Amino acid sequence: MVRRANHLCDYRRVSNAGDTLNAERNTVLHSWCAQSQWDAPTVVGGAGAWLHLEDGRRVLDMSSLAECSNLGHQHPRVVAAIREQAERLCFVTNAWGARPRAELAEKLLGLAGFDGGRVFFTLGGADANEHAVKIVRQALDRPRGVVIARDRSYHGSTHLAMALSGDTRTRAMIDPDAMHVSHVAPPYAYRCPFGSANDAECGERAASAIAERIDHVGAECVAAVIVEPNAGSNGIVAPDTYWPAVRRETRARAIPLIADEVMSAFGRCGEWFAWQRYGDAGRPDVITLAKGLTGAMLPLGAVVLSHDIARRLDDRVLGTGLTYCGHPLACAAGSAAIDAYREDGLVERSRRLGPALRETLTRLATRHAVVGDVRGGHGLFAVLELVRDRVTREPLAPWPQTAPALAALLADALTAGVAFGARGNLLLIAPPLVIEERGLADALGLLDDLLARHFPPGPSTTQG
Ligand SMILES: Cc1ncc(COP(=O)(O)O)c(C=O)c1O
Repeated sequence: MVRRANHLCDYRRVSNAGDTLNAERNTVLHSWCAQSQWDAPTVVGGAGAWLHLEDGRRVLDMSSLAECSNLGHQHPRVVAAIREQAERLCFVTNAWGARPRAELAEKLLGLAGFDGGRVFFTLGGADANEHAVKIVRQALDRPRGVVIARDRSYHGSTHLAMALSGDTRTRAMIDPDAMHVSHVAPPYAYRCPFGSANDAECGERAASAIAERIDHVGAECVAAVIVEPNAGSNGIVAPDTYWPAVRRETRARAIPLIADEVMSAFGRCGEWFAWQRYGDAGRPDVITLAKGLTGAMLPLGAVVLSHDIARRLDDRVLGTGLTYCGHPLACAAGSAAIDAYREDGLVERSRRLGPALRETLTRLATRHAVVGDVRGGHGLFAVLELVRDRVTREPLAPWPQTAPALAALLADALTAGVAFGARGNLLLIAPPLVIEERGLADALGLLDDLLARHFPPGPSTTQG
């Protein structure tokens, strides 16, 4: 039997039968799983890359929970800033000014090099993407409806964000056409939808597909293109040829380009923002952020607008806003988080450790036939794609399901004190950027052992 993918729900073998767990199981609705199957440990604390469980165990976090705790858990600088701001002032409506908000906006514009731009603060990633689309539509001189996004992408689970997502989890619930969203094939080089001869060609062809779709729809009808620049939340890592070509093609057609950097920013891909890997040739018009923005220590998202988009809004009424947009407590956390990344040198650390991570995983792939592909490694983000057969690249389980053997591997890892993240056949390696090198090496050593135990050489996996 193949069970539905969900890395939280897969931790079923670890029983943590405390009162909290029972209370939570009976009272709370949990995301992306059948409620009757939910059985995850209760976390009561954390420090650095470690989580502390209610039963007294410590677990090394190899996925930054949801690829968001980039600063590790309970970073003291951010905790202190939240405490300080809470004592001074918790809330001011968006209609009034708040010092932490202005301070954070200035830092973000500075990091992006968006001189003269503006920032709209949101509550998280999904509404950052929704607002980005709404704001761009309002900034355009003529109304244009269509937004071009990618298959196998994930942009969040609010209504429009679900429509933007080319994700099996959201497709069943929403019709993208009804929301004027048009999807194109992704730069998935391992299974290139364009039949490319190599990764570079796959990246170029995927960018050309966007250009062709714009031309097919008519540039005068397209409001924006929204894609992730490099690392993908559904485990696709775009070849380096992709993003600069997407930028070139959209610029040539005067179509605003929105970089969804909810997951890929704040050091995850070795840069403050993943597009910065390509310098000015990769500069988008809009960047959406969340997750690492506060190191996940308070909910916050942001839409960072270039000067060109921002100035078009100077004399128009902005038709959007939520009560908690720009919440001062969250902005104070964001501002302190940026200071923490800077002072601890975490973006550079991630850039330094990423290639070593990739090298270790590549070595591991030579020992385990079940590992079909290793990708990523610009920073502390890498993906292992597991296959039944390396030659045919037959998936271990049909996407987006998780094979029972992989679910068992995850459970054993947790029992051994390491929490890995997985989606379908993909193991996502995205530890907090503060992880100790020794801890990282031990976790990868454990993964090596567990791959041998759960995927021994034999008919179930074929070496290529
Ligand atoms: C690339 C990307 N965009 C958007 C989102 C949605 O963010 P949130 O869950 O904060 O709404 C996610 C979340 O996983 C993401 O990975």
